[in-house]
Formats: sequence, structure tokens, C-alpha cells
Amino acid sequence: MNVLITGADGFIGSHLTELLVAEGYTVKALSQYNSFNNWGWLENVGCRKEIEVLSGDVRDPHYCKHITENIDVVFNLAALIAIPYSYVAPDSYVDTNIKGTLNICQAALENGVGRVIHTSTSEVYGTAQYVPIDEKHPLQAQSPYSASKIGADAMAMSFFNSFGLPLTIARPFNTYGPRQSARAVIPTIITQIASGMKQIKLGDTTPTRDFNYVADTCRGFLQLARCEQAIGEVVNIGSNYEISVADTLNLIRELMGSDVEFLTDEQRIRPEKSEVFRLWCDNTKIRGLTGFEPEYSIRDGLQKTIDWLVQPENLAKYKADIYNV
Ligand SMILES: NC(=O)c1ccc[n+]([C@@H]2O[C@H](COP(=O)([O-])OP(=O)(O)OC[C@H]3O[C@@H](n4cnc5c(N)ncnc54)[C@H](O)[C@@H]3O)[C@@H](O)[C@H]2O)c1
Repeated sequence: MNVLITGADGFIGSHLTELLVAEGYTVKALSQYNSFNNWGWLENVGCRKEIEVLSGDVRDPHYCKHITENIDVVFNLAALIAIPYSYVAPDSYVDTNIKGTLNICQAALENGVGRVIHTSTSEVYGTAQYVPIDEKHPLQAQSPYSASKIGADAMAMSFFNSFGLPLTIARPFNTYGPRQSARAVIPTIITQIASGMKQIKLGDTTPTRDFNYVADTCRGFLQLARCEQAIGEVVNIGSNYEISVADTLNLIRELMGSDVEFLTDEQRIRPEKSEVFRLWCDNTKIRGLTGFEPEYSIRDGLQKTIDWLVQPENLAKYKADIYNV
């Protein structure tokens, strides 16, 4: 099976690349083109010699047509994902997330790709109106990022409805693990503690999240790709629990044996209507379709993340002393 992973240079995409290689797939891994020929996290994967790395851009329809030739499955993960950056550069989110998804779907359709797994996000739900959040929960665009993913999902689903493109929308809840960018709260805290800081600046710590270890999220992607009944469906990937950011911080502090103090940084507080206060995944659908069960508890997943981030060669890739957007 020939698979194309867009966003393979990123956090989840690099883990998915490793999983699919281990499962015997022939992987083309798209890294966003840049003049440094930097392949992001693909520079560090053990399977680098077993994959074909492509440098390009999902915003270019010609390029998308070219890279989807002779592909059986496309995993579309390429996206701009930082919420704060979406406040100041929303146009680029439309270009990458909506237009990029259109380009991938159009190219997949024209090249007869057998399956497309498009990546959504739990951010599209906004603050839970009820919990746990199933796939019927209303969508609320609380940030330009969320709006662009709602648009991307709608574009992708329109290709199933209008043209029969065999597509599934995978909707992961918050994912964490090795290689996550420092704009996310878990790596922010771990890298600051590992760098010896005694005080850590954070935004609001009252929101709750359904945090998932990246290996579980990637298995969810793979199981959906193997499931015929998931075609034409939106499917949550999550663990069916919630934990507050504050409790997560305390757990990290305990696991790292730290006495660090947490401070509120106004710069990191989001506008009230934009902050998503509660996310908790109802994973009944994916369990029913694929038998998916998360394997990692939050404690085990955090420990693995800490073990990776405290390695000096990994920590050196993070800028723990600044606010990473
Ligand atoms: N991390 C999470 O908690 C989470 C949760 C739910 C959904 N998601 C979704 O999962 C996907 C991957 O997220 P991630 O956390 O790995 O983020 P990430 O930023 O690490 O990865 C995204 C990758 O997309 C690439 N990209 C951006 N613009 C591109 C373009 N124009 N052309 C080609 N590539 C481009 C970037 O180089 C980046 O490496 C995204 O679609 C995101 O919306 C992430």
C-alpha cells in the first residue's frame, strides 16, 4: 500500500510516519517546502531511509495533483494549528487549512486515490455544551483556527457527498507526546521545568481537556483507514475523560520531582469568548467501528513525554525562555 502523509514533518505526522512504516506501508512523507531543506521532525525519525520525503506545499493544486499519483491512502495532516497565531494571521489559515484541503481532495479525486483520512480537531466543537462530546455536538468557531478547520472539514465532506470521494474525517482531541511544539501547554511546562526555571508563566489553567498520548491518536488514524464503515463519517479520536490544565500541571510537577511555581501571564490569557473551557471526548463511535481503545494513561503518557523532553539533544530544540506562539 502506498500512502501519502501531509504534515509528516510535524508532531503527529512524524509519529504516524513511523507507525505506518512499522506496519509495512510504503510512505511518501510531505514536509513543507523551505529553502533550508529542513524536514522538521522527519530529520529525527529512525525510519528516515525507508521513506520518501517530499518537499512541497498543500496550497499549490498543481503540486498536490503530482504527489497523489499512484497513492492508495492519503492522510491529510498539513495545517496551521496555533490558536494565538490564528488571531494575527487568519488569512494564512484559510489558505493552508481550507484551500489546502480542497487541493488534496481534488487531487485525490482526479488521481483515483482509494482513501482519504482528513484531520479535523476537537477545537471545532468549542466549549462543550454537553459532555462527553459526541460527533453530533454543535460546531462553534471560537477562534480563526477553529473556523478554518470547520471550513476544511466541510470542504472534505462535500467531496464525499458530491463526488463519492472515499473519505473519513478523523477528529482527534488534544494530543501530546515527544516532538510536540512548545506552543502547547504540556511541552511548555516540561521544557521550562527541565531548563531549571523556578517560576512558570501560563494562561488560564481552569479549562479541561481530553489529553491523548500521540501513539494512541496515531493508532486511531490507522484503524480508521482500515475501516470501510468509516467512509463518509466524522469520527472522534479520544480517551473519554477530562482533566483540568491545573491538575495536569500538578501531575507533571510531581512526576518531575519539581517545586516550580505557576504564575498567570496576561499575554497568554485568551479573549473570554475564544477560550474553549471544556473538551471531553465521547469515543463510542470509534470504539464501535474499529475496537479502538487508548493504551496510555495520562500518567504513563506524561512520563514518556518527560523522558524524551529532558534529553539534552531534544531539549535543545525548544526555546523554553520565550512565549512560543
Ligand atoms: N496537536 C494536537 O493536539 C491536535 C489535536 C487535534 C487535531 N490536530 C490536527 O492534527 C494535525 C497535525 O497537527 P500537529 O499537532 O502535528 O501540528 P504540527 O504543526 O506539528 O504539524 C503540522 C504540519 O503541517 C505542515 N504544514 C503547514 N502548512 C503547510 C503547507 N502549506 N503545506 C505543507 N505542509 C504544511 C507544517 O510544516 C507542520 O509540520 C493538524 O491538522 C491539526 O489540526 C492536532
